[in-house]
Amino acid sequence: MSELPFSPAAERNKEPIARALRHLLKANARVLEIGAGTGQHAIHFLSAMPGLSWQTSELPESLAQLAASLEREGGGRLPPPLALNVATGPWPQSRFDAVYTANTLHIMPFSLAPRLFEGASRVLDAGGRLLCYGPFMDNGIHSAPSNELFDRSLRARDSAMGVRDTCLLDELAGRFDFFRQGDLIMPANNRLLVYQHKDDQAALATDA
Ligand SMILES: C[S@@+](CC[C@H](N)C(=O)[O-])C[C@H]1O[C@@H](n2cnc3c(N)ncnc32)[C@H](O)[C@@H]1O
Repeated sequence: MSELPFSPAAERNKEPIARALRHLLKANARVLEIGAGTGQHAIHFLSAMPGLSWQTSELPESLAQLAASLEREGGGRLPPPLALNVATGPWPQSRFDAVYTANTLHIMPFSLAPRLFEGASRVLDAGGRLLCYGPFMDNGIHSAPSNELFDRSLRARDSAMGVRDTCLLDELAGRFDFFRQGDLIMPANNRLLVYQHKDDQAALATDA
């Protein structure tokens, strides 16, 4: 049998992220993951928080490998992954408490970032959160020399890739009724950005 894809980075960061998610998600939260890659995060988070409903998704061309990993390693508790390209959808009809995505914003072109916020706003219940893990910079300033090197290597590989700026993401968030509620410092100069969708009821109460 051929080897399933494996990410050493996901292996290293899965437990620190799980610790953060325990504070951010209720025990029975419904989560949609975008760009789930090897599925290591989904498998680990579900074993750390068995009450979660975790729906993975990936680009159609990478779906079969992800499905095989989830089937072999997921203990029968993860539903088959959905085909979802942030550029084109389709976003599921179901509702979620959170949308989670790790290490995808620096891979997909920045022109897709609005599609991510828009899609998340469509599937999240009021007050739901979009959780973005990865390296980020602030107002053009990298948070570590290693992130700057990583940014340069990404852009050399493909000019559409690159470490994203929280200022630009915050501006997009506002356009789609999100606000940055949290910014957790994670190991290896990564961060977990927490964008909360505005609660319509709370907004109405404030406007009244
Ligand atoms: C660096 S990998 C990260 C995988 C996994 N989330 C992790 O942290 O190990 C980037 C992932 O983003 C996915 N991706 C890239 N462009 C995408 C798009 N337009 N829509 C959805 N996923 C995308 C890739 O297929 C890949 O799985």
